[in-house]
Amino acid sequence: MPVEDAYARPLRNLRVSVTDRCNLRCAYCMPEEDYVWLPREQILHFEEIAKLVDVFLDLGVDKVRLTGGEPLLRRNLPRLVGMLAAKSRLRDLALTTNGVLLAERAAALRAAGLHRITVSLDTLRSARALALTRRDTHAQVLDGIRVAAATGFASLKIDTVVMRGVNHDELVDLLEFARTVAAEIRFIEYMDVGGATRWSMDQVVGRDEMLAAITRRYGRVAPIIEESSAPADRYRLPDGTTFGIIASTTAPFCARCDRSRLTADGTWYLCLYGRQGIDLRGPLRAGASAAELQALITGGWRRRTDRGAEDRLGLRERAPFVPKSQLKQDPHLEMHTRGG
Ligand code: GTP
Ligand code: 5AD
Ligand code: SF4
Repeated sequence: MPVEDAYARPLRNLRVSVTDRCNLRCAYCMPEEDYVWLPREQILHFEEIAKLVDVFLDLGVDKVRLTGGEPLLRRNLPRLVGMLAAKSRLRDLALTTNGVLLAERAAALRAAGLHRITVSLDTLRSARALALTRRDTHAQVLDGIRVAAATGFASLKIDTVVMRGVNHDELVDLLEFARTVAAEIRFIEYMDVGGATRWSMDQVVGRDEMLAAITRRYGRVAPIIEESSAPADRYRLPDGTTFGIIASTTAPFCARCDRSRLTADGTWYLCLYGRQGIDLRGPLRAGASAAELQALITGGWRRRTDRGAEDRLGLRERAPFVPKSQLKQDPHLEMHTRGG
């Protein structure tokens, strides 16, 4: 039986950030010029990550997603994938990447046992990609997606953050592109997470508006009814194509949220919007036993009352979650440190 939090939400889904570094500067995540990085000596070694994952598996976690920053920047990542893939209790091992390095790494990741990949792609237009990410890597990303599609992963997804005035007019084009690589695309509402320092409600395109645009093009969009803790609501087009919408801003899924996040330096966060994390690196490096780590994690999860996105929804005046000055003092508050 998985351990449950204060609202009976199980601990099932762990997102493991392997680096806080990123090779893009997406406007919705890293719009600033300078960042404070986690100190190198505090970054967990693969053996330490594997040890912590074992403790989480003991407590009922069965899904792990590797994230960043950009996870493919972590040296020898396939070695970690192999170490985790060997754990038979892990039902699902996935990776979220920006795709820049994917073409050259996809085969090694697959060979190491990675099950699924999600690639971020916000536009099909190179000039827009350049403006949005501040790096000239769009062709590499598209290539990465095509290579991943041909590599034989159990599933390939594309994540698109939709921003008004930036890419809101591309939903249909992106859907069509996703079809050509047999990927399921998910449109994500722009969220006011830490790091999204330029966020404003005006730029959020809500689920209903996205559905209206897609319905205008395809005639009918049928919701897929399913029991799931995943953030995406899924839909089917008349020809059978499926896609998802992650309405974290206008219709959060906190009530079903079974996820937590481990940062690259071993701090454990129970919510995307959590202000404080629980330090697991300290005890681990001080020689804590598996039982002691288990007690620490169980205690933390049992006390969990976070419903960050719902709390944000209740605010009358909505502005970026964390002011820039605070992000500089504690980089853990950044979305890119928490793994998106
Ligand atoms: P699967 O459904 O298992 O494929 O994965 P996923 O959807 O959890 O993973 P992915 O990294 O693709 O997440 C998609 C997006 O959903 C993220 O990039 C965020 O924008 C949003 N999201 C992920 N986790 C959370 C969360 O804990 N809370 C909220 N409110 N939004 C989240
Ligand atoms: N709003 C929504 N999603 C975001 N991500 C990062 N910042 C935001 C934000 N402000 C997600 C995107 C990206 C992943 C790494 O993190 O899905 O693809
Ligand atoms: Fe879970 Fe917090 Fe995200 Fe809500 S905001 S879905 S509780 S991580």
